[in-house]
Amino acid sequence: MTTISGNGDGTEGAAAKRGIQAFWGALYDSLYDDVDSSLTRERLIEGIDALEDMFRLRRHMAAIEMPLNSLKDKRVLEVGCSAGGHSALFARYGAHVTAVDLTSSRVRATAAKFALLGADANDCRALQADVEALPFADASFDIVYSNGVLHHTNDTEKALDEVFRVLKPGGRAVIMLYCKSSWHYWVNLWLCIGVFKGRAFADENWLGKATEWGGKDTQKIANPITRCYTAGDIRRLFWRFHDVTLRKGEFYLYLIPKLGRFYRRWQIKRYGTHPGGYLAYGAPWPVQSPLELRLGRLIGFAWFIQATKSDQ
Ligand SMILES: C[S@@+](CC[C@H](N)C(=O)[O-])C[C@H]1O[C@@H](n2cnc3c(N)ncnc32)[C@H](O)[C@@H]1O
Repeated sequence: MTTISGNGDGTEGAAAKRGIQAFWGALYDSLYDDVDSSLTRERLIEGIDALEDMFRLRRHMAAIEMPLNSLKDKRVLEVGCSAGGHSALFARYGAHVTAVDLTSSRVRATAAKFALLGADANDCRALQADVEALPFADASFDIVYSNGVLHHTNDTEKALDEVFRVLKPGGRAVIMLYCKSSWHYWVNLWLCIGVFKGRAFADENWLGKATEWGGKDTQKIANPITRCYTAGDIRRLFWRFHDVTLRKGEFYLYLIPKLGRFYRRWQIKRYGTHPGGYLAYGAPWPVQSPLELRLGRLIGFAWFIQATKSDQ
């Protein structure tokens, strides 16, 4: 395991990175510890199969934009691997995965999954590293994959410069970033929390504080950074890349403040839960209704982005 080389620019940057590590460390240890501490090779393999099935059901980029059937012997970098479920799935398809995260406990959790997979995680490694200063040579990877990470780091532009640099010419970035042109941003977050609770006018980091809650323990540390993007913002961020395609997904009625919890109870009774959630969230995932899946394409909170580094 390496130590973090680029821990932010100057004191403020370094303090922000420590805040990111403290927040994600506490949240994810509380979410994943139960599942991770009882994981065996058999349970992990069952969990990976369930994870893939859940991704297909949700039309998540891990099973749609990621070319799972042609990952064999591809060099894949996952940025912000967290629990390591996505990386373990790519490893099972024969990719040589390098998984990085800023938070050391997340790196250990991912490394443990590679160790349980043994020969099925051929040439896979987990390292502690900062996406804004990746410790890899130029043109090292065929694919860089990152799910919901780059909008939580200090400098998203710098992170994308790094993603571009470490991709081989002709290589592909598969990245999820939060979508501003979405119901969740405008109604649940901006209107209900930002305006009705007055947070948007009182706190510069109101969006960070309004997102990413959900651990089993009460969170004492606030999420330091969350950003959301319009389609135009994404095109500007990915200016160096070619063939940039955007697809929207992920709409959940249970996220509607106050009323959502009643819907969630009904949803679980009506549609049940899916075991794919164990590796992704430390708990079974409440299955989305067909209506939510359809609405996700129009007003979902995720941009699933694919972009290519030109081979010229
Ligand atoms: C929302 S979680 C995403 C986790 C995972 N990709 C998933 O889909 O479950 C964000 C993760 O990104 C990591 N992270 C945040 N900033 C980072 C940075 N600058 N470099 C590397 N990892 C970072 C955090 O430690 C955390 O594990």
